[in-house]
Order: sequence, then C-alpha cells, then structure tokens
Amino acid sequence: MQATPASDDHSDAERAHRFRDFQRIRAFSEQLCEHLVIEDYGLQTVVEASPPKWHLAHVSWFYETFLLRPLLPGYRVFHPRFEYLFNSYYEQTGSGFWPRPERGLLSRPTVAEVYDYRHHIDAAMARLIADCPASDWPTVEQRLRIGLNHEQQHQELLITDIKRHFAHNPLRPAYRADLPSSPIGEPDPLQWLSFDGGLGEIGAASGTGDFSYDNEHPRHRVFLEPFALADRPITNGEYLEFIADGGYEKTALWLSDGWATVRQHGWRAPLYWEEQDGDWRIMTLAGMRPLNPAEPVCHVSYYEADAFATWSGKRLPTEAEWELVATAHPVAGNFVDGGWLHPRPAAAGDGPRQLFGDVWEWTGSAYLPYPGYRAAPGALGEYNGKFMCNQMVLRGGSCATSREHARATYRNFFYPQERWQFKGFRLAESRS
Ligand code: AVJ
Ligand code: FE
Repeated sequence: MQATPASDDHSDAERAHRFRDFQRIRAFSEQLCEHLVIEDYGLQTVVEASPPKWHLAHVSWFYETFLLRPLLPGYRVFHPRFEYLFNSYYEQTGSGFWPRPERGLLSRPTVAEVYDYRHHIDAAMARLIADCPASDWPTVEQRLRIGLNHEQQHQELLITDIKRHFAHNPLRPAYRADLPSSPIGEPDPLQWLSFDGGLGEIGAASGTGDFSYDNEHPRHRVFLEPFALADRPITNGEYLEFIADGGYEKTALWLSDGWATVRQHGWRAPLYWEEQDGDWRIMTLAGMRPLNPAEPVCHVSYYEADAFATWSGKRLPTEAEWELVATAHPVAGNFVDGGWLHPRPAAAGDGPRQLFGDVWEWTGSAYLPYPGYRAAPGALGEYNGKFMCNQMVLRGGSCATSREHARATYRNFFYPQERWQFKGFRLAESRS
C-alpha cells in the first residue's frame, strides 16, 4: 500500500498550532492541581464529584481511546486495565467502566503513576500529531479538538469538584488562600431589555472552522414572541429577599419535583451558604467568606431558579431567547483565565451584562436534540447525545470555564437538582 506523505507545508502549520494548544491545555490541568496536596487527589465526597486523580487520568484515557489506539500504529497502552478504570460512561468502547460512585475508593494507581500515565499520553500524542499520515490528519485534528475541549470541561469539573470536596471538610480549607475578593456592596439596579422576537436562527453553523459540539447542531430557525431579558443575573442580595420572604417554605412557588427536593434535603439556601446568628457566610475556593450581596447568586438548582422567578412574577429565559441576545455580544467576562475563581459583582454599563462568565445561567429549556440532530456513530456519539432526557440547558460559562471554551451557541446541561457547578440565573418575561 502506498503511504501518504506525513505532511505538507499547510498541514505542518496546522499541526504545530494544534500541538501548541495540546501542550497549553494539558499543562493547565496540572497547574490547577499544583494547589493540592497528595491527600486531596483521591477524595470523592459525593458521587457526582470525582476525585482530582480520576479527572487527570480520565482526560488522558480519552486521547488514548479515541486517538492513540485507533490511529497511532504500534501504540503501547500504558496499563491494560486503565481503559476500564478511566472510562467514564462510554458503552460502545467495549471495555465497560468502573462504577462512578466508587471512583474515590482507589488508592492505586497512585498520584505519581497517574502523572506518569499523563506523560506517556503526552509523548504518544506528540508523535501522532507530528507523524500521522496526511490522510489521517483531518480525523486526528477533529478528534484532538474534541479531546482538548473535553479536557477543558474537566478542568472546570476539577475546580467545582475540589470546591465540593473541600466544603465537605469542617475545616473548610482554602484551595487557594491567595484568591482576590470583590468589595462587599449592594446589588446594582436591574434593568429590563426588550426584544421584538420574530424569526431567528440558533445553533452552530457548519464549516466555519470554529469548534462546536454536536449538540449545537444543526443551526435552525426559531420563532420567538416578544420578550424582555434582565440585563444581569440575580444577585445574592435579591436572593436574600426571597429567603427572607419565606421562599423556601411557600409550596406554591415550587415545581412539584422541586418541592420534593427541598423537603428531602431540608434546603433553605443555595449550596455553600452557612448562617450564623443571622449572618450568611459562603464557602469559596479561598475558604469561608462573608456573603457579598452584589455578587450573582451561585450554586442554585433549576428548582430554586424557577421558584425565585415565580416569586418575582417572571420566568427563566428559553435557550433560544438567551442565544439570540448573546450572539450579538463579545465572549468577554469573568472566566477562569482572570483568576478569580468566584463570581464578581456586575460592572455598571448599558446592555446585557455578564452574559458570559461568572455563573452558568439556567434556562427554562429542556436539554433536547435540535431538529435534525444526529449523534455521531460509535462511542463518540455517546459524548452528548445520550443525555438528552431529564436535564436542563445552561448558557454562558462561569468563572471556572476557560474563555476560549465559551461561545453563544454552547449548550451545557445538568440535572435540575444539581448545584455544585457555578450556576445562577437571569430572569425573563413575555411581552406583547
Ligand atoms: C456537559 C458538563 C454535563 O460533566 O459530564 C465531560 C461534560 N462530557 N466529559 C459532564 C463532559 C464528557 C459534561 N457536562
Ligand atoms: Fe469526560
């Protein structure tokens, strides 16, 4: 068989570019863990939050499974059981997977071995990117971009999971005692922005060269009735009023599933809020801090967002409303790159504020396939497609998201009761 040449000038530049992305994104995962001690790496305090050690290995497994095994001739797996241990949920890889609730029960492989695994993957990926035949490059590049975006998702999960684990500890340890904090203040006045609605298009366009997940496709038309959108997310100060007004005790404000959840868990405030003698403090990645009324409310469930909206006589925006507004604005805001690792108060300004960064915004839209959506064939099609039931869409990215990972068409999704991500909400209302 005639081998295609490894590269030409055009793909050399692309390969160099992708390899720099690979090195930078791989390094960031390890930088996030520089603030951990060995004892932190294996913690799984709740089933939904994985141990840091598992994240570091799982993102490496992803490249091994979807790039190195199928596409690098002679690739030697690092360990034959890692395909089982570090597969998250893919049924079609054939390896099965270790149960998620038991990720924290594994003292071996050690942290040092997991770093060795990462470096083994790094070296093999360097060879694949440099040397794969030109005929394989489009596939390698496409899967590499998915792998890198996947690692960025897990970087956010690393941060949110570390916060979850540290909050479980009565010492309320700081992941980083050196994080900056915003001056305590009162919420900035909330303004309403009106939109005519009509026919519009949402979803990621194909063939632009920009990365998007399959769940953002196909781009399609939507029709919107006139609506108004709040110019910023709801703040802690406003949320305190909801609590003070008995929001958590008024059954009529809650969805049935929401009320059952409130009752079951005894919720009376967002996750990480703690009250002492009438004063609220919250757990942050810098340890406990006084609640700042000016910051966007964070770590709320869909149920809490919905109950607050009902209490306000408003509703949550649909994902189409959110996207049609957001698409006209630059992807700028408080992302992980800025180093705050916590939502910040809205800066004064006209037009929608904090659409991107700070907190993921719950929408009133169920996470469903767009019209015409087709999951990719094979195991990679399981990435997003099989979760299109019983979850809600969140938009915009958070203070734990990489800026380059966020965009107007991005559809994040979580179960309505989940609170450990940096999640808040903004209100909307229908106009006529
Ligand atoms: C889209 C954030 C819900 O947390 O499982 C990670 C991201 N997908 N690995 C998740 C994801 C595959 C996903 N969320
Ligand atoms: Fe994953």
